[in-house]
Amino acid sequence: MAITEREAQHLERTRALPGERVPDVIEFRGVSKRYDSGDTGLEQATFSIKRGEFVFLVGQTGSGKSTIMRLLIKELDPTAGIIRVAGRDLRDINSRKVPYYRRNLGVVFQDFKLLPNRTVHDNVAYALQVTGGGRKDIRAKVPDILRLTGLSTKLHNFPDQLSGGEQQRVSVARAFVNHPPLLLADEPTGNLDPETSIGIMQLLYRINRTGTTVVVATHDDQMVDRMRRRVIELSGGRVVRDEHQGRYAGRGDETTAEFGALMRGEPAPAPRRLTEPGDLFDDAFQDES
Ligand SMILES: Nc1ncnc2c1ncn2[C@@H]1O[C@H](COP(=O)(O)OP(=O)(O)OP(=O)(O)O)[C@@H](O)[C@H]1O
Ligand SMILES: [Mg+2]
Repeated sequence: MAITEREAQHLERTRALPGERVPDVIEFRGVSKRYDSGDTGLEQATFSIKRGEFVFLVGQTGSGKSTIMRLLIKELDPTAGIIRVAGRDLRDINSRKVPYYRRNLGVVFQDFKLLPNRTVHDNVAYALQVTGGGRKDIRAKVPDILRLTGLSTKLHNFPDQLSGGEQQRVSVARAFVNHPPLLLADEPTGNLDPETSIGIMQLLYRINRTGTTVVVATHDDQMVDRMRRRVIELSGGRVVRDEHQGRYAGRGDETTAEFGALMRGEPAPAPRRLTEPGDLFDDAFQDES
């Protein structure tokens, strides 16, 4: 599938300049989270994720995957340790700045979280409106993203007139309409059948290919093992496995069709050239206040 002009522009803008040192998109250093109830969400977690990576977070129920996601969107604060996103310590983002910070994140949930009384088009447009996008912005971006996600014919449907897979496509469209540099998906295929799940994963992979860093939490470790991507495994809040894509050097630039083949466990074709996508955190986030 060829990328659109808008995606190409996004990739161009996110590419690092030669010699430019760019911070990791995500850095967790000795991060622990103890809930008020006394439960441990995360225990001394240390890992970092580079720009442009596609990373799976795996682990049994209660292992800490959602805790990581919620810490990243600053819905929670850690009890100990340091979290940096694009080099910025999340402790330095005060509550007034949190909405600006979140503009840099696309978030996809297992249960879609769509607005039930808005159409597909309006669910996606709403994501632009809340970040200050005007009508012109909406006219320019919404049709594009609905095409990318294969929803052009469902524009006027309400969420309850869509299949589960289609609803998840809408939530991916909504998460990506601002072309955020970081996309987080917490069990995005948890409610979907295997073939529909592959479609959603292909969509996330396609987004990754435009330069956006993608982190996907999932239970489906069999599928993950086939994907030859970086896998961070959690158990009891601890990182117990972190397999870097270095092990699979040369991979990471499959077409979406090749990516789908991997997911199905079909033989994967030979690797091609790797691209070096970059970062795109907006001014509001970079500005210190
Ligand atoms: N709001 C909360 N209050 C108290 N404990 C919590 C809360 N949220 C999570 N926990 C606990 O923190 C631990 C990690 O939970 P988390 O939701 O991060 O796991 P998970 O890996 O996402 O699990 P699942 O695969 O079921 O989604 C669990 O022991 C859980 O009970
Ligand atoms: Mg969870």
